[in-house]
Amino acid sequence: MHHKEIEGNCTMHLFLLQFILMRVIDGKKIAREMEEEIRKKAEGKEIKIATLVYEKNEESVLFSKLKEKAFERVGFEYETIYFDRVDEKKIMEVIKKLNDDRKITGINIQLPMPGMDYKKMIEKVDVKKDIEGMHPFNVGNTLLGNERLIPCTPKAVLRIIEHEGIELQGKDVVVVNHSNIVGKPLSMLLLNRNATVSVCHVYTKNLKDYTKKADLLVTATGVKWLIREEHVREGVIIIDAGIKKEGGKIYGDVHESAAMKAKAITPVPGGVGPVTIASMLENALLAYEMQKSL
Ligand SMILES: NC(=O)c1ccc[n+]([C@@H]2O[C@H](COP(=O)([O-])OP(=O)(O)OC[C@H]3O[C@@H](n4cnc5c(N)ncnc54)[C@H](OP(=O)(O)O)[C@@H]3O)[C@@H](O)[C@H]2O)c1
Repeated sequence: MHHKEIEGNCTMHLFLLQFILMRVIDGKKIAREMEEEIRKKAEGKEIKIATLVYEKNEESVLFSKLKEKAFERVGFEYETIYFDRVDEKKIMEVIKKLNDDRKITGINIQLPMPGMDYKKMIEKVDVKKDIEGMHPFNVGNTLLGNERLIPCTPKAVLRIIEHEGIELQGKDVVVVNHSNIVGKPLSMLLLNRNATVSVCHVYTKNLKDYTKKADLLVTATGVKWLIREEHVREGVIIIDAGIKKEGGKIYGDVHESAAMKAKAITPVPGGVGPVTIASMLENALLAYEMQKSL
């Protein structure tokens, strides 16, 4: 065989070997397992979730329908409240009413609520009904290592890490996202587990200087294929929470060239997304238990 042909064959075999060695983490399966457990634990408990939705946002409506299906699967009751326009006074009144309603055990605000200050809305929610884990009281507790109601996407990332048996202590973890709902709380949760955490964002000078050092890379930018071969080292574990819709398809942050170098990776779709919904259900159960233990 010609020298070049042998070389080509070797590269091909290496490529296939890498492909075989790479593990695709099944988020749907993890979510199913979580939901099964939640459904059992919720039996005989009157859990009812209220979701506030801005009805003119198609995606919000679609996402709230997905949540309704999830509530049904685990036997929760639910109420979806639609707003045709965002009226601060009205929304604040509705949240107050839901706080006072003993039948409602969890409150969920579907974003975006255009023109509304999210901080203002979430501050109004009863801390024990805050199933998004975003009330400043709950965020503060998370920061202090008293983790109870924690934000759903970071909770999902942790769940995946646990499910994969990944030890965090002393590991270099890089998070590409510094939003209030993903990167900031996730970095606190990782620090609580003694990981060494770097948090990157749009202003990070040279992203790959950080990502290349990662034992575990969590990315959630919504920038299609931002993470490429040169961004990661061989054997990295990648959790891709990014979602970018384009031409009727959904893309994550990670390009195939980076995925090929990973020991394990979450797919998009079917990775973090389903586990995030299951994490919200778990928060709903926890919130109920917190209210009943008073
Ligand atoms: N799978 C799930 O369950 C789930 C849940 C929530 C969100 N998501 C997805 O996760 C993504 C982020 O959501 P989010 O609400 O946190 O959005 P966001 O507030 O827009 O956050 C995006 C983050 O990515 C950073 N970023 C954007 N482009 C970058 C680049 N080129 N290089 C480095 N960093 C960059 C942003 O930095 P700057 O702020 O400096 O611009 C920001 O920290 C979206 O795709 C969303 O759909 C998925």
